[in-house]
Amino acid sequence: MQAGPERTIATERLLLEPLVPAHALALTRFARLWEVARYTASIPHPYPPGCAEAFAKQAVERRRGGGGWIFAVVPPDRRDVLGVADITLSDDRRSGELGYAYAPWTWGNGYATEVARALIRFGFDRLRLDLIGAYAMVENAASCRVLAKAGLRRIGERTLPAPARGRDILCEAYRMVWTERLV
Ligand SMILES: CC(C)(COP(=O)(O)OP(=O)(O)OC[C@H]1O[C@@H](n2cnc3c(N)ncnc32)[C@H](O)[C@@H]1OP(=O)(O)O)[C@@H](O)C(=O)NCCC(=O)NCCS
Repeated sequence: MQAGPERTIATERLLLEPLVPAHALALTRFARLWEVARYTASIPHPYPPGCAEAFAKQAVERRRGGGGWIFAVVPPDRRDVLGVADITLSDDRRSGELGYAYAPWTWGNGYATEVARALIRFGFDRLRLDLIGAYAMVENAASCRVLAKAGLRRIGERTLPAPARGRDILCEAYRMVWTERLV
């Protein structure tokens, strides 16, 4: 992995570019879909005009403020955005929480797992985190599988807001501390 805080991260098949407003149009193509929004903690549905641009601007501010990293997941030719993946830091900057969403036409290729593993390496090696966690809705079997394949351990359940549903949803909680890292 060639990584630097303001640089692109290369995985085996993909690039993770720090999200900027230029990614917004391609991001909208999948973020507006119900099958994507319904499982996320941050994507509203219907997807309002300008939402992707505002999200990308927030990403730039969050990065500059040290609050975390949101990446556009792009193919090697950089001509599309296949997904978005992020690591949000706690106030004390000791722990991070993973999040991600991918365009449905990319599902089933192992991309989410490949990127989650790269973000875990980035979090522990570059950001020097002690702990990385993530939540996935209990009904979102694919995402629970991604987190397990990436090496996170299921530690319990809690309810969290699901903006596209307009209510709280039961989620599985996963985590990895740096001494447990396998990836
Ligand atoms: C969940 C999501 C990220 C998975 O992306 P992906 O690139 O297809 O993931 P991967 O290919 O790396 O792995 C998916 C795994 O889930 C499995 N899977 C897929 N659908 C499944 C289902 N309905 N039940 C059980 N397992 C399932 C796949 O078989 C694969 O496991 P395997 O490699 O052991 O066969 C993608 O579907 C997505 O973006 N969904 C909408 C947004 C979302 O859910 N975000 C996560 C919020 S926590």
